[in-house]
Amino acid sequence: MLELNEVPVASQAPSVPQSAQRGSRMQPASPSDWPGLEGFDDPKVLQARVDRVPVWFHEFELPGGVWTRGYYKPAPKLHRFCLPERLDGQRVLDVGAWDGFFTFECEKRGAASVTSMDVWDPAINATSEGYAVAHRALNSRAVPIRGSVHDLDPAVHGQFDLVLYLGVLYHLTNPFESLQKLRAVTKKTLIVETASDMQLTSGPALAFYPGSELNGDGSNWFAPNASALVGMCKAAGFRNAKVVWSMGPLTRATRAAIRFVRDRENPLRGIARGRLVVHATV
Ligand SMILES: C[S@@+](CC[C@H](N)C(=O)[O-])C[C@H]1O[C@@H](n2cnc3c(N)ncnc32)[C@H](O)[C@@H]1O
Repeated sequence: MLELNEVPVASQAPSVPQSAQRGSRMQPASPSDWPGLEGFDDPKVLQARVDRVPVWFHEFELPGGVWTRGYYKPAPKLHRFCLPERLDGQRVLDVGAWDGFFTFECEKRGAASVTSMDVWDPAINATSEGYAVAHRALNSRAVPIRGSVHDLDPAVHGQFDLVLYLGVLYHLTNPFESLQKLRAVTKKTLIVETASDMQLTSGPALAFYPGSELNGDGSNWFAPNASALVGMCKAAGFRNAKVVWSMGPLTRATRAAIRFVRDRENPLRGIARGRLVVHATV
């Protein structure tokens, strides 16, 4: 039976409003408590259940040629993350797992165990329903934990050979503290993927978004440039940190041009924005 372990509320400020936290308690206590997780050997039954999930984030393939209907297609972007080809024997933590694409990818690559952590908060549309459906369809052994990165504690969760922190950093009101929390549970490597900004500034810098300036999403607070992210990882206690992928200037310029035409965003501001992947090692 799949169990979702509730994590004690952290003493630190949560990354989502209290009202959102209250909302999350109205979800099923465990992904396995979502109704209708049976009969998935029949692709028609699985497809029908997949289609009943109101919001999918990840688009990926489940058994029987069934596809989830996410608005983010991670498979073609996998190379960006420079994940090890094989993860045999490794203990992996996927923080901000949402529908679990990266969790299940690590299982495919032979990880000995994978823990998926997420706030799975309906107030920001990120429920655990898609994760529950995919988990059952894939007969996954991954262990889900509902909680915030700020709740991570090596005394409770132990340490992990590989920690994934993909697309989460910019959602936090205290991104540096989140890296300190991640350092405490990382045995070998942390992979951070994030929106980046201030790329035309040579020293370390983070952009702050008081409203919904980043992608029209009010839950985005900060985005660092490469130098800031590397520096934050090292200051959080990682021995080494290096950029393994960053969005090239041509792609950034194209995206800036689109946002200029669509939103009248200053193109100099737009070209400073992109995405970034850093590997930090202990
Ligand atoms: C943009 S999605 C990224 C999903 C996935 N990691 C990926 O890269 O495709 C951000 C995820 O982070 C989760 N999240 C937001 N704040 C969090 C926090 N404080 N701790 C853990 N997860 C959080 C959200 O619920 C959401 O599932």
